[in-house]
Amino acid sequence: MNKVDLSVSLCGVTLKNPIIAASGTYGFGRDFTRFYDISRLGGISAKGVTPKERAGNPPVRIVETPSGILNAVGLQNPGIDAFLETELPWMLEQGTTVICNISGNTIEEFCDMARKLNNSSVAFIEVNVSCPNVHAGGKVFGSDPESILAVTQAVRRCTDKPIVVKLSPNVSDIAEMAVAAQEGGADAVSLINTITGMAIDVNTRRPVLGNITGGMSGPAVRPVALRMCYQAAQAVSIPVVGMGGIMTGEDVVMFLLAGCTAVQVGTANLADPMACVRIIDQLEDYMNRKGIKRVEELVGALITE
Ligand SMILES: Cc1cc2nc3c(=O)[nH]c(=O)nc-3n(C[C@H](O)[C@H](O)[C@H](O)COP(=O)(O)O)c2cc1C
Repeated sequence: MNKVDLSVSLCGVTLKNPIIAASGTYGFGRDFTRFYDISRLGGISAKGVTPKERAGNPPVRIVETPSGILNAVGLQNPGIDAFLETELPWMLEQGTTVICNISGNTIEEFCDMARKLNNSSVAFIEVNVSCPNVHAGGKVFGSDPESILAVTQAVRRCTDKPIVVKLSPNVSDIAEMAVAAQEGGADAVSLINTITGMAIDVNTRRPVLGNITGGMSGPAVRPVALRMCYQAAQAVSIPVVGMGGIMTGEDVVMFLLAGCTAVQVGTANLADPMACVRIIDQLEDYMNRKGIKRVEELVGALITE
C-alpha cells in the first residue's frame, strides 16, 4: 500500500491525522490503552472539566435510540485541578495531543479554567458553550450569538492557547453562532454537540432519563451535523472541526469535503472501542483507492455546481 499523508495543520498545531476522540466518550483515554496505542490518534478531547468535581445527573443517564443514543450524564468529572495534576500528565506520557474541554456556569468560571490551562501542555482549549446557564439571564451560552461572543472574548483575554469554541446545534442559525465565535477571537469552531431529545417509557408513563431530557448523538444526527458543518465552514475563515455520527472513514471524508479540517468521533467509541483506529485505517484505504496523497486535499473540496 502507498504511504499517504494523513497529517493536518489545525491552528498551527500539526495533528498526525484528522481523527480526534470526542469529549465525553473517551474519558481521558485510560480505558482504551488495553485495545490500542492511543498515540495513533490525531488527538483526544478530554472529558469536559468544570471548576470543581461533579458527580453528574441521577440515573438513567444513557438510553439507546434508533441509530444513536440519548445521554444525560451531566458533566461528571474530577474538576480542573485533578485534571491538571493527574489526568493531563498521564495523557501526555502516552504521546497524544490533548485538547482540554471546559464547561462553566459563568464567564468567570470559563476564564478561571482557561488561566489555569494557560501554563499547561494542552494543545488546545475547547470551550463548550452548550452548558446550562450564563451568570446573568439564565440563557444557554451556545444558543445566543451575544453570549458566544462574550464568553469567547473573555476566554481569549485569559489564555494564549488556541481556543476551539464548541457550538450547540440547538439553534436556528448555526452560521451566526460560528461567526460570533470567530469575532470573539476563537481560533477554530467545533460542532456539533448533542441535539436535545427525550425518551418516554409507555409502561411507567415516565421519562426514561433521570434528567427528563438528554442529548442525542450517533449516526442519526449525522445529516444534521454535516449540514451545520458545511454552513459554518461557508460562514467563517477559521478552521471547523466537525463531529456528529461519524462511524467510518467515509463519514470522515464527508465532513472534510464539507469544509472541516479535522473531525471528532464520539458515540462510535461507545459501540466499538476500536472505532477511532478502524476509522483512521478506513480513511487511509479510501485515499489509496482514490489516489489522494494528502488528506488536506479533501478539505472543502465539495463540488456543488
Ligand atoms: C456520553 C456522552 C458524554 C458527552 N460529554 C461531553 C462533554 O463532556 N463535553 C462536550 O463538549 N461534549 C460532550 N459530548 C458530546 C460529544 O463530544 C459530541 O459532540 C456528540 O456526541 C456528537 O458526536 P457523536 O455523534 O460522534 O457522538 C458527550 C456525548 C456523549 C454521548
